[in-house]
Amino acid sequence: MIEQTVVVLFFCHVLLFAGMSFTQAAAAGHWKLLQGTIGISAMHMQLLHNDRVVMFDGTGFGPSNLSFPTARCARSYNGRRISFDCTAHSVEYDVATNTFRPLAVQTDMWCSSGGAMRDGTLVQTGGFKAGDRTVRIFKPCPTCDWEEIPMGLLTRRWYATNHILPDGSQIIIGGRKRFSYEFFPKPAAFNWPLAKTNSVPEAYRLPFLIQTNDGHAENNLYPFVFLHIDGSLFIFANNRAILFDYTKNKILKTFPKIPGGDPRNYPSTGSAVILPLNLQAKLLEVEVMVCGGAPKGASIKARNGVFVEALNTCARIKITSPNPKWLLEIMPLSRVMGDMLLLPNGNVLLINGGSFGTAGWELARNPVLNPVLYLPNNPHGSRFEVNDPSTTPRMYHSTAILLRDGRILVGGSNPQPGYNFSGVLFPTELSLEAFHPPYLDPEFAALRPTIIEPRSQVMVFHGQRLKVEFTVIDELDPTKVSVTMLAPPFNTHSFSMNQRLLVLGRSNVTTTIWPELMYEVEVNVPVSGNIAPSGFYILFVVHQCVPSEGIWVQIL
Ligand SMILES: *[C@@H]1O[C@H](CO)[C@@H](O)[C@H](O)[C@H]1NC(C)=O
Ligand SMILES: *[C@@H]1O[C@H](CO)[C@@H](O)[C@H](O)[C@H]1NC(C)=O
Ligand SMILES: *[C@@H]1O[C@H](CO)[C@@H](O)[C@H](O)[C@H]1NC(C)=O
Repeated sequence: MIEQTVVVLFFCHVLLFAGMSFTQAAAAGHWKLLQGTIGISAMHMQLLHNDRVVMFDGTGFGPSNLSFPTARCARSYNGRRISFDCTAHSVEYDVATNTFRPLAVQTDMWCSSGGAMRDGTLVQTGGFKAGDRTVRIFKPCPTCDWEEIPMGLLTRRWYATNHILPDGSQIIIGGRKRFSYEFFPKPAAFNWPLAKTNSVPEAYRLPFLIQTNDGHAENNLYPFVFLHIDGSLFIFANNRAILFDYTKNKILKTFPKIPGGDPRNYPSTGSAVILPLNLQAKLLEVEVMVCGGAPKGASIKARNGVFVEALNTCARIKITSPNPKWLLEIMPLSRVMGDMLLLPNGNVLLINGGSFGTAGWELARNPVLNPVLYLPNNPHGSRFEVNDPSTTPRMYHSTAILLRDGRILVGGSNPQPGYNFSGVLFPTELSLEAFHPPYLDPEFAALRPTIIEPRSQVMVFHGQRLKVEFTVIDELDPTKVSVTMLAPPFNTHSFSMNQRLLVLGRSNVTTTIWPELMYEVEVNVPVSGNIAPSGFYILFVVHQCVPSEGIWVQIL
């Protein structure tokens, strides 16, 4: 069979910067400290559409370094006993002013999951012990705080993965010793004729999570879940994946194991992304990439003090292919507990983590301080680029998310079950840093588009055409313009739930010269919730790989 031809697309190659040798020695990004301490360790992060980031760790770590302006205490459960903790374990960070305020959580949300709903509300589910069936709601407003729904889940969920569904609800999959899934909000029974298990509240059965569970080592927690363009879910656990119809509780397709068979999920924590969905292509192909992790047996060895080298492979699979196969690529640095982030220009950033051991309390060694860029459309063998290092190890319980201005917000790291600032290999990190990817380097400023219209917070419908006006200081190359849209993820434990980048179908770029030199491009808002569930996205204009500052777009 002949490979499908694809229309000429804009891809971010390394060599787009004419006349510049863009080698590893050249632009490699840079780091900036934003906050020496925010008083908590940013173990979970979600960017909301008011450019504030909600962060939290857990209430069982003992008193944090952040107190409330007026006394508020939360119930905390520290292993054996319930006590009252009058410090904050959650903050709202305001990107624009680089300030933060404490938020109050009542029950333990340690190692939980979540996502932003269609109206922009953050819904976070589960956690530890007394908090493991709680659903917590955070509405984006400058004075809002967490609201809790006790017993909001059917069963306990700790280390589960959530995903936003085309109908706007959220699916919650797995968790420790939970081989099932459920929804929030709970669906009307008649809509969901699923055979429930006998042992309600075990919700809807998912035996794939039993089959991929390596006994005591597990290796399948925080499964990598992506919404496929036909509305089904791609679920990866341990070393393999299925395509799953959650409405019928049916496996549609079973994908092969990644060659080598090593585990990629907690505690052998790798990371994964669904690569940018190119809606300009005649035929929409969907690819998933999984990177890093730890060899089989590594977590048991680490618990016995033997730290084996992390995996140095990425595995990429075309899930729309009739005969999908994993293709392996070698990363320049081995990595466990790395985060994979989709950048506005379609590249993937690997950041955080270590190169020996696994996730878990003090079970990793040798921090990987260099982020690595992956350029998915470069020829095989020339896709990785090592960026400049941070000075702060970001090990277990660290986080990273993309901000609207193109920077990467990096926080967290706490491999101890308490706040420990000395006498440990990797002290509890309360700082926040920003990584500026190479596209923010000053030498590319003149290529950077500025969006003039529409204004941020524009509302659109599926299938609508949207005019985007922008300027560029330098001369525009109209053949090297793309418009992308990112669903901001919920990030924890090296996985970004709901992360999705769409390269929008568009018209040719037109130029107006009066009253000023300006460019206009018309884009197609995706036609369905399968491709882009309703909710808030960040829209970027990208010119020669350099993204504009984004604007918020709400798909109604
Ligand atoms: C947190 O508070 C403790 C106790 O007051 C103090 O020793 C420590 O230096 C603080 N750490 C940070 C990073 O603020
Ligand atoms: C970390 O700090 C807690 C108290 O906050 C203490 O109980 C624990 O022993 C410390 N752990 C280490 C490894 O020092
Ligand atoms: C868009 O530009 C291409 C060449 O750059 C041209 O072939 C095509 O006809 C143009 N389309 C429209 C609708 O103008």
